[in-house]
Amino acid sequence: MKTEILAPNSHNIRLCADYLIGGGVVAFPTETVYGLGADAMQPDAVREVFRVKGRPADNPLIVHIASVQQLREVAAQVSTMAELLINAFMPGAITLLLKKNKYIPDCVTAGLDTVGVRMPSHAVCRAFLQAADRFVCAPSANTSTRPSPTLAEHVRADLDGKIPYILDGGACDVGLESTIIDVSGGVPRLLRAGGIPRETIEEVLGCRVQTAQNSKVALCPGMKYKHYAPRAEVYTAACGNDMHARIIQKYDDLTASGRRTVVLCLTQHTHLYGQRAVYDMGRDYKEFAHNLFAALRKADSDGYDAVLIEGVPQDGIGAAIYNRIKKSSGGNAEI
Ligand code: TXA
Ligand code: MG
Repeated sequence: MKTEILAPNSHNIRLCADYLIGGGVVAFPTETVYGLGADAMQPDAVREVFRVKGRPADNPLIVHIASVQQLREVAAQVSTMAELLINAFMPGAITLLLKKNKYIPDCVTAGLDTVGVRMPSHAVCRAFLQAADRFVCAPSANTSTRPSPTLAEHVRADLDGKIPYILDGGACDVGLESTIIDVSGGVPRLLRAGGIPRETIEEVLGCRVQTAQNSKVALCPGMKYKHYAPRAEVYTAACGNDMHARIIQKYDDLTASGRRTVVLCLTQHTHLYGQRAVYDMGRDYKEFAHNLFAALRKADSDGYDAVLIEGVPQDGIGAAIYNRIKKSSGGNAEI
């Protein structure tokens, strides 16, 4: 099968929507990362998503919708907390975990009684969802364990020959996946840090959100798997006054042992590394998030063996960046 990247005009949006309605799997852009979509009401199409992505069947998919009306059809119950978050953040980079309606197939939710629901804000995505007029279940459009795709080309690099169409929406603005909040019970729980910071959500709810740090809550099933990993080895640096010195030391050790190495750093730090190879990740952590997955993929295509990533603060969007770089480092201790 030939995999085509399609310009996001109305003809191609219709083509992709019809292909999905007919039971096919297509990749589409969102403001977070690209998704790999199927009609959630067609179990065979849903299973094809798992197959194409190489995803374990016990890892549920998020259902993407174009309207709040559709959200009410997917969920059996919409709590008061959920209403607050819908009003504040939808459409946007948030996924709400809600009690699922019984007619949503079990293969979508991996047999759980909750369903993740997300309304993306990306204009092309919205046009696609409106044209399809279906509940579109979709994981990120990468092969399992690889960094999530933030460009149509990233999707093609992973899934070439496995799907016919990738709807091109340009570079994803946020660059990291949505924040997942469980509002299916009495206490709001953060299951995955993402595009919308926990602090912003707490302001809207007027209460603290439970996290893995302050409770024994289970993270979402997907977070236990190896994730976001390029072929290169990834090392993260703890913040602190001597962070640059530690990175330079590690860089020189790796280079001495024959490994081509690159540092991922803020624009204003590039000069601190002298002649060493760096990728400029932008001036602030919003830009850092936007560039992260693309940089991990570029390190592979540029032939680096090791990637050293500057430390990030653990609040705001930093929490989501920190989570992704820790996972991409596959348990390597911080330097
Ligand atoms: O930004 C995003 O959320 C992107 C775009 C495409 O919308 N999607 C995305 O999907 O990141 P995925 O499948 O790569 O990650 C979804 C995560 C997985 O870790 C999965 O285990 C969790 O959400 N999840 C989905 N439904 C769940 C449920 N009912 N209960 C607990 N976790 C759930
Ligand atoms: Mg994913």
